Amino acid sequence: MKKILITGGAGFIGSHVVRRFVNNYPNCQIFNLDALTYAGNLENITDIQDAPNYTFIKGDIVDVDFINDLFQKHQFEGVLHLAAESHVDRSITDPLSFVRTNVIGTMNLLNAAKTIWAGAMEGKRFYHVSTDEVYGSLGATGLFTETTPYDPNSPYSASKASSDHFVRAYGETYGLPYVITNCSNNYGPNHFPEKLIPLFINNIITKKSLPVYGDGNYTRDWLFVEDHAVAIDLVFHEGKNHETYNIGGFNEWKNIDLVKLLCQQMDEKLGRIEGESAKLITYVKDRPGHDLRYAIDASKINKELGWKPSVTFEEGLERTIDWYLSNEAWLKNVTSGEYAKYYYSQYQ
Ligand code: NAD
Ligand code: DAU
Repeated sequence: MKKILITGGAGFIGSHVVRRFVNNYPNCQIFNLDALTYAGNLENITDIQDAPNYTFIKGDIVDVDFINDLFQKHQFEGVLHLAAESHVDRSITDPLSFVRTNVIGTMNLLNAAKTIWAGAMEGKRFYHVSTDEVYGSLGATGLFTETTPYDPNSPYSASKASSDHFVRAYGETYGLPYVITNCSNNYGPNHFPEKLIPLFINNIITKKSLPVYGDGNYTRDWLFVEDHAVAIDLVFHEGKNHETYNIGGFNEWKNIDLVKLLCQQMDEKLGRIEGESAKLITYVKDRPGHDLRYAIDASKINKELGWKPSVTFEEGLERTIDWYLSNEAWLKNVTSGEYAKYYYSQYQ
């Protein structure tokens, strides 16, 4: 059986990718390697945990000996690398942990893959999952393309940009067969409630204030997470080696407009009077180095691989809200303990 390693498969996007690969590729053994940090949660993938082609491994990509032994033991033919520290605000308070996981951790995986694939790169693939934030900030117009120069502004995006550069460098220098995708903001089930949409859903449920950074006129391009998983599957199997593909939702929203829509939909779902949740909106101190606008030109992946988003924002947001409302236990579990400390230090 072909062995495929997916890193970060207990996280938000990773859990959707692991599920898709386990269900769609019964002839591949899918290994999910995850350190189970605060963001990793095996409850995200209980439905596939007993599948015969699935193996979970708890481990840290920063641990070089562990990674080398793992690659020697299993001789993976493909790697999909999603494990990362992923929250911009946390990168502002603790940048070094982002260098450790996102840069050193990626380097460890690259070195291990290069070693076991030496002299036999044919048919192998290292897929690095990256972000549109590496391109920096757009003004009022324009879109990020695959040739937009890198210009990261946060420690998070700088660490992701650095890892992207190393992946490319390993392709050029050692012939490592890689692909990179740079995707826009994801949303959907299993999103950790430190990020805008799930944080605000949780705060609306619990009637806490909704902390909008700055004037709320920042713009993001939102993509439903399952559409991202479809794109990742397609690029992994059909993308060209040494290529980058941008992935986006063709779906730009100013934060404040998105928050108002969310409040409206939550009022309906919770049977509250119209306008009740919007009263929770509170403008707070801005995020330092806050990027004004992200928007992706996803025409390359559309033309070359035929991918486009299939879920409209209205449908995706409703499915997301419904998921949180019917998974109260999940939400309670992830917002107990350490979360309270994080919340207090970030918002009080
Ligand atoms: P997440 O924070 O929800 O999950 C990250 C996962 O990685 C967690 O399961 C965590 O336990 C694991 N992890 C963290 N450090 C690790 C380590 N040292 N060793 C092993 N595992 C470790 O992240 P996400 O939002 O699902 O993002 C996944 C990937 O997609 C990241 O590389 C991120 O940069 C990228 N990305 C995210 C978005 C988005 O909107 N969320 C958009 C574009 C790209
Ligand atoms: O663009 C892709 C990126 O999207 C990913 O690479 C990151 O991993 C992911 O976290 C996300 O980054 P953002 O910083 O765009 O997402 P976040 O949900 O943190 O914030 C979205 C917008 O909402 C941003 O303009 C900041 C704002 N915001 C966020 C929070 C958490 C608020 O106004 N208030 C908040 O409390």
